[in-house]
Amino acid sequence: MNDRLLRACLRKPVDVTPVWFMRQAGRYMAEYRDIRSRYSLLEICAQPELATEITLQPVKRLEVDAAILFSDLLLPLKPMGIPFDFVKGEGPSIHKPIRTTEDVKGLTLFEPRDELNHVLETIRLVQKELGERLPLIGFAGAPFTLSSYAIEGGPSNNYAKTKAFMYEQPQMWHELCEKFSTIISDYLIAQVEAGVQVVQLFDSWVGTLSESDYREFALPHTKRILSTVQTASIPIIHFGTETSTLLAAMAEAGGDVIGVDWRIPIDEAWSRIGKDKAVQGNLNPTLLLGPVPQMLKSALEILQRVGKRPGHIFNLGHGILPNTPVEHVQELAQFVHKWK
Ligand code: CP3
Repeated sequence: MNDRLLRACLRKPVDVTPVWFMRQAGRYMAEYRDIRSRYSLLEICAQPELATEITLQPVKRLEVDAAILFSDLLLPLKPMGIPFDFVKGEGPSIHKPIRTTEDVKGLTLFEPRDELNHVLETIRLVQKELGERLPLIGFAGAPFTLSSYAIEGGPSNNYAKTKAFMYEQPQMWHELCEKFSTIISDYLIAQVEAGVQVVQLFDSWVGTLSESDYREFALPHTKRILSTVQTASIPIIHFGTETSTLLAAMAEAGGDVIGVDWRIPIDEAWSRIGKDKAVQGNLNPTLLLGPVPQMLKSALEILQRVGKRPGHIFNLGHGILPNTPVEHVQELAQFVHKWK
């Protein structure tokens, strides 16, 4: 088994820096677009054979040190009672956003081993195909990020509805987040039982909060998930964007590895996070669109700032953009592995 990723998560020395990419499966790959031209995203997620094939596509094309389960962050919403669709060119669209006490009270806790069994089946199938080659990363959304979709009804620039709900109905906010944390803890543990070796908790949009709001409205729920999942004894990656001012608080909430976007130098991020954690990320995904020398120069800067300290996982600060040339991603992974 290639155990570079697992070793780096635990800050153990590695032969070369492990690398994988958020959104390493997706529209920038022709073989993904080919399947996607025949099925919707939700259809793919519901069919373990298709989701398995897509999970393995990047592993075949790129020198990555992990596979990430192909699924979506929002899948737990539907069985809770929050149906949604993906609208072309716009992203997720929640049919009836959460706005009232009754909306929150009406949400159901569910058994992920039944309702999301198709995701667990994908994990089992991927594991069969991957064998002992590479670790598989499972994932789920953190309560703030999931609540933001449930309340806004879709993507947002300012999270105004989410924040209004949080400030005006704090008790309902906490009840909503508690439901999410119960479900997400159980869902992540079910993913571990099905065979993932690492999990990543995505709190993609939490950087919209001030540190004191983060501590009051998000941290307790994230902490509950991370301490519950810790009992499964596998490494946990805790990720968000625009989190430069939140890194210390996110580290306090938990995780073995903290994800860092590109807005802060990685060494500075690491000192805010603390040396008792590993770090992941930091390359601006936009660099993968542009001239390769610029991309490699920035990648080198990250590697040099880390300076071989054990506990670094190379990744982007956020997901690969849809129009990224595959060759650039290939070259980047090779570059990271060649760096000694
Ligand atoms: O990283 C991977 O390769 C695994 C697959 C993965 C997807 N979604 C597939 C997907 C992962 C890890 C996610 C997580 C996810 N989903 C997040 C957190 C990660 C992040 O980007 O911060 C969020 C916020 C979502 C919700 C979501 N799903 C949005 C907002 C969108 C629309 C935006 C977009 O990029 O189109 C999606 C759709 C989505 N999820 C796609 C993929 C490959 C695009 C699907 C398509 O149209 O073909």
